[in-house]
Amino acid sequence: MASPSRFADLIIRQGTVITPGGPVLADVVCSDGLIVALDSRGWQAKDTMEAQGLHVLPGVIDSQVHFREPGLTHKETLEAGTRGALLGGVTAVFEMPNTHPLTLWQDDLQDKLDRAAGRAWCDYAFYMGGAAANATHLADLETLPGCAGIKVFMGSSFGDLLVDEDDVLRRILSHGHRRVAIHAEDEARLMERRALVEASADVRDHPRWRDEESALLATRKILRLAEEAGRRLHLLHVSTAAEMALLARHKRSVSVEVTPHHLTLTAPECYERLGSLAQMNPPVRDRHHQAALWQAVRDGVVDVLGSDHAPHTLEEKARPYPNSPSGMTGVQTLLPMMLDHVNAGRLSLMRLVDLTSAGPARLFGLPGRGRIAVGQSAALTLVDMNARRRIENRWIASVSGWTPYDGVTVQGWPVATVLRGQLVMRDDDVIGPPLGSPVRFDETRR
Ligand code: DOR
Repeated sequence: MASPSRFADLIIRQGTVITPGGPVLADVVCSDGLIVALDSRGWQAKDTMEAQGLHVLPGVIDSQVHFREPGLTHKETLEAGTRGALLGGVTAVFEMPNTHPLTLWQDDLQDKLDRAAGRAWCDYAFYMGGAAANATHLADLETLPGCAGIKVFMGSSFGDLLVDEDDVLRRILSHGHRRVAIHAEDEARLMERRALVEASADVRDHPRWRDEESALLATRKILRLAEEAGRRLHLLHVSTAAEMALLARHKRSVSVEVTPHHLTLTAPECYERLGSLAQMNPPVRDRHHQAALWQAVRDGVVDVLGSDHAPHTLEEKARPYPNSPSGMTGVQTLLPMMLDHVNAGRLSLMRLVDLTSAGPARLFGLPGRGRIAVGQSAALTLVDMNARRRIENRWIASVSGWTPYDGVTVQGWPVATVLRGQLVMRDDDVIGPPLGSPVRFDETRR
């Protein structure tokens, strides 16, 4: 006698499912927000999606975005930023603290959580800024629900968050346990060299001003201070060959992020073509550095990809360099650009999934996320590896309304996003209402 059917919320049929053991042709059965089976025999569902010809990936996690709320909502909002995330196949984001006000205290974090509730389309957590004012409170602040960890800017970039004194860095590193996320550029050297770009007013000099040595000095220093404090680090948007060589020797205590921008754009071509639209910190550099970043991706030195989605309006970007602000949008294009790199043979799809799902889940301690397996959260990203699509500004959800990849054709496209077992994006449309909620971290996270 056949056993009676069980009821699920969603069955995704016959996609190529990227499991920890490799790709398998399977059905993904989702019920009560979880993956409950990888075989749909004996199941019926409210909703079914045919996924023949598609790849089903664990939901993409973008561990570095700036969504500008509160204070800078003319550039971006939590609503638009998270909508862009879903359209780009991203199911969770970690948002940065250089907003107005800065995210330094429990009230600032709570304000962001309140703003996100009911408006965020994907899941979210917020970084707390590490600063002189809150350094001795960070052990408590970093474990608050909804906190992704502590972020320190060693060089000034955008906003008022800056820690350029060794004493303060030491205090930050000695209060708390989780990995500290670092923007490593040496402030003293940046100040010393600023005159160079004041004089030239040429955006092609951006990587000469904020040169390899500026990044290396800061990275070397923070490695030394963290070693003294016995603290682990997460080095954000690493951009130079020398840093990668150094970081490869410190992998026991340091994790490494690269951005799709640094893997895709190259100097000087990007500045000639895009002007200050290509301006970000640390800068996009030449082929020599880019080749080292790719090598580090292939060697496994890189743990995660973060988009460093950092929107500014086109009017702001049009100010004469160096008064134009640094930063580009990226949350929505992270996956299309990287799928195109997969299709071009620069990395495998399995490696990409490790960088965008399993890697962040492992590093930041996200129980139930980052891989497709029975019992895991049903956060999924469905992609068509054969689709050829032109990226256009009008597809971009960001309030700022632009991408450096406007007009670029890619092969590989996110066609659906699933959050807690619900289809929340399909064929370039989000499906409401917004279901985003705070990311839960492992209580024993370190
Ligand atoms: O280019 C950048 N823009 N780099 C950063 O570190 C900050 C970001 C921003 O917030 O605009």
